Amino acid sequence: MRTYLVTGGAGFIGSNYIHYMFRKYGDEIRIINVDVLTYAGNLENLREVEGRDNYTFIRANICDREAIERIFAENEIDRVVHFAAESHVDRSIVHPEVFVETNVLGTATMLNAARKAWEQPDGSYPEGKKFLHVSTDEVYGSLPDEEGAYFYETTPYQPHSPYSASKAGSDMLVRSYMDTYGFPANITNCSNNYGPYQFPEKMIPLMIHNALEGKKLPVYGDGRNVRDWLYVEDHAKAIDLVQEKGRLFETYNIGGHNEKRNIEIVKIIIATLQELLPADDPRRAHINEDLITFVEDRKGHDLRYAIAPDKIKAELGWEPETMFAEGIKKTIRWYFEHEEWLAHATSGAYQEYYEKMYAGR
Ligand code: NAD
Ligand code: DAU
Repeated sequence: MRTYLVTGGAGFIGSNYIHYMFRKYGDEIRIINVDVLTYAGNLENLREVEGRDNYTFIRANICDREAIERIFAENEIDRVVHFAAESHVDRSIVHPEVFVETNVLGTATMLNAARKAWEQPDGSYPEGKKFLHVSTDEVYGSLPDEEGAYFYETTPYQPHSPYSASKAGSDMLVRSYMDTYGFPANITNCSNNYGPYQFPEKMIPLMIHNALEGKKLPVYGDGRNVRDWLYVEDHAKAIDLVQEKGRLFETYNIGGHNEKRNIEIVKIIIATLQELLPADDPRRAHINEDLITFVEDRKGHDLRYAIAPDKIKAELGWEPETMFAEGIKKTIRWYFEHEEWLAHATSGAYQEYYEKMYAGR
């Protein structure tokens, strides 16, 4: 039975990936989820898989060399899927050092531990051992607001935020391990994800939550920034496909072909909430475009991201399957059906964060 070590599996994309993998492979695989449970890690995301014999959760920090080496020593790990990271751009502007520690040093620790466990005396690696580093399109910087301008795997790195700089650093480390040690890895650079279990500090769940609460919808700057949205399950499928069929040592860009300005997204969320809320739901009365407020812009705010997923389509046949109109409905329905999850995620520490981050905005 093949064993996966998934880091950051209690976060948004990691938990969706774990659900996807068990739906697809059932008892054919084993997953060990290693997560330190920061504010963004939530074991409630994984309730449905907790009782499985082929699933183990280990609370550990990816920067903790001993703990990570022990996990490799005690388990025959075949595949690593490395999600764990600090992921929120706004937080990186306030506390860049945490991002360097987790994203750069944590990735170095994971690479060293995997290499130590897998490398043979002659410098080769056993067939089937693979490390997939999950990264972002933000490493490529910002695109002009012009049709036909896209990020490709060959686009030079030009990160602007401490978050994207730390992810770029981690990507470079993975590349250096492949080049120096022949370390069996892939890198995937994906665009903005949305879907169930996304922590409500990120734009889409934040807008859904605020609208339901009748709070203002804070749009940064003029709202014309463009992001390329991908339904999270399509990302999970792409990651699995790259590990199954991708060429080792290659980078694959993953994107939704779904560019939208932030202001469009907020208006779609308002309209979809109006459509989906029952006619007698009192929240309908306050959900309208008057809630939109333009607030101070994010520092160094990238104007536009857009992926051309030509390589993954041509080589592996991957294409996004969930269109935005359908994906956003599924997502909003999920938040309706998981009000308890949302209430837990937005209580306590999140309240404090929100008040500080949006004070004066
Ligand atoms: P997230 O913030 O929701 O989850 C991150 C997870 O990592 C959490 O469970 C957290 O507890 C864990 N973690 C953080 N620091 C850790 C540490 N030191 N040791 C162990 N675990 C730790 O993030 P996400 O949105 O699910 O993103 C996952 C990965 O995908 C990240 O590497 C991110 O850069 C990348 N990515 C995200 C997006 C997106 O749109 N969200 C798009 C492209 C790539
Ligand atoms: O592109 C991939 C990246 O997408 C990932 O690597 C990151 O981990 C992920 O967080 C995401 O980064 P963004 O900065 O693009 O996502 P966020 O949801 O924070 O913001 C999306 C856009 O919405 C961005 O242009 C900023 C804007 N925004 C965000 C928030 C939180 C607002 O206008 N108001 C808000 O309150």
